[in-house]
This record gives sequence, structure tokens and C-alpha cells, in this order.
Amino acid sequence: MPLVDSKAMLIYAMENKFAVGAFNANNMEVAQAIIEAAEEERAPVIVQISQGAIKYAGENCLFAIVKSFAEKAEVPVVCHLDHGVDIATVIKALRAGFTSLMFDGSSMPFEENIKITKSLVEIAHAAGVPMEAEIGKVPDAAKGPLSHEEIKKYMTTPEEGKEFFEKTGVDSLAIAVGSAHRMKVQSASLDIERIMNIHEKVKAPLVLHGASGVLDDSIIKAIKAGITKINFATELNKAYTEAVKKKLSEDPELVDVRKYGEAARENVKKVVKEKIRLLGSNNKAEDVLSYISGKKYFKDTGINKMPIVE
Ligand code: G3H
Ligand code: ZN
Repeated sequence: MPLVDSKAMLIYAMENKFAVGAFNANNMEVAQAIIEAAEEERAPVIVQISQGAIKYAGENCLFAIVKSFAEKAEVPVVCHLDHGVDIATVIKALRAGFTSLMFDGSSMPFEENIKITKSLVEIAHAAGVPMEAEIGKVPDAAKGPLSHEEIKKYMTTPEEGKEFFEKTGVDSLAIAVGSAHRMKVQSASLDIERIMNIHEKVKAPLVLHGASGVLDDSIIKAIKAGITKINFATELNKAYTEAVKKKLSEDPELVDVRKYGEAARENVKKVVKEKIRLLGSNNKAEDVLSYISGKKYFKDTGINKMPIVE
């Protein structure tokens, strides 16, 4: 089916207390693994392409890959821009046809983040596309070890979450509640009370970034507290790379990229399926589809039906 936008999908998940997995794709094999896993689990899914992935492969190339697999799938698939950190990237993704966007101004001063996010929300909404933004800051574990104090320092407060949400008009809100990006080991616990307090004040889908490093039981509690979209990247990268290494160590003479590409794809698919079940989005595709078809949050601008301009 055609790509869908993330608005109604996330509202349905929020109201029905499960979370939608948002999985980062950096190449064809990973995008295919994510969509195949969603098909086999009958799950709605978000395939996300980060600003870094755009730098690596280009927005039109990755968008075309996701779109073509989504069109063959029977489950609803969103193509989302992850961590667009400048205006140009958000506009490029919108123009390429992405059906969901993120502007990440979390490194900016609060007022500047509000100002730029609000102007991008207006543009995205005029084109019929929902927008996620971040307040507080999810730190990067790959830049060095993080103390509990450092993680806490950047956490979102319920007050700033409410003010940011009301002033910008975003459709979903990424909050910092104890996770960190690019953790290679699952060891972080989230501040569940903080999530509940933010959700009290922000009646919109809340987004968890850096989920690869979060313990499973903390993820389950976070969903009950109001987290609705959960982002995984590092675990997929790990699964991919481990499979390639294993395949090549078993057969050092191997040169056919498809042979280790297919091993990597299968391993990523296995991880995505496990995460989908953890989030409770398995067997939700049909319900999401019937909810989506009855809802219209944006006027039909036809912009996502335009041909891709290379
Ligand atoms: O935006 C993407 C994510 O927040 C993924 O984080 O690589 O730590 O799973 P992760
Ligand atoms: Zn993130």
C-alpha cells in the first residue's frame, strides 16, 4: 500500500497503550528487513532515515527504497526523517516525499528551538506531513561514558515539555528520560515518573530515542506511562555487523556481497521482530489501518503523490 503518515498511527497507538517501533535504515537490506519483519508480525511500522543516512546515501535513494517495499506490503509503513538538525534537511526530506519529519533543535537554546520548530511545523502541516521535535536532550553515549548526573542534567521537565508542545504545535514530542543514543549494551533504566508527569501535561504521542540501551522491563513500563514511538538504531547496526563478521569468518573466501547481505538482513529482521513484540505492536496493523482510513488530520495536498525530483 502507499506510505502513510505517522499522525493517526501514533494517536491510535497512544490511545490503545502500545508503541510503534521506529527503526533506522541505512541501506536496502535494513529497510527490507524492517518491512518484512512488520509484515510477518502484522505490525504498523516506521522506517526512519537519519540526517547521517541521507549524507551517506541521499534522501531520494533511501526514500525510493522504503517506498517501493512499502507499496508491496499489506501493513502500514511510514517513511520518517530522523534527527533533521537543519532547515535544509527537513525541506529536502519533505520534497523527497517523506511522510513524517523530525526537526531536532535540542542543541539550541530553548527559545530558538521553539522558533525554528514552529516555522517548520507550519510548512510541514501545509504539505500535510506531521512533525516530531525534541526538547531536553538525549545524550550520545558514543562520545564517551556518561554519568547518571550528566544524563539527568539533560532530561526534559514537564513544564518545558508543555510549553514547547503548546508553542510549536508539533504532532509528537521526543523527550529525554534516561536513555542515551548509541549504547551497545542494554543497561539503562528510564525515569518512569517523569514520563507520567510529562504525559499528564502533554496529551500527544511521546517519543523515546536511544532505545537500544534501555532494559526491556523499563520499555514496557515507559509504554504504560505514555511513550508511543520507540526508536532503535544501534541494535540493528549490531545485528547487521555481527552477521557479516560471522559469515566472513566462516567463509573467508566469500566475495559475493549478496551472501553476507542476506545473512545481515535475516539477523536484523530477527531483532526487529523481537522489538515489535516487546512494544505490543504485533497484530495491530489491521486495527491501525481501519482507524487511519476514518481519520483525516491534514488536508490532502497531494504532495506525496508528486514524482520524486532527483
Ligand atoms: O533516533 C534514533 C534513535 O534514537 C536510536 O538510538 O541507536 O541508541 O538505538 P539507538
Ligand atoms: Zn534519536
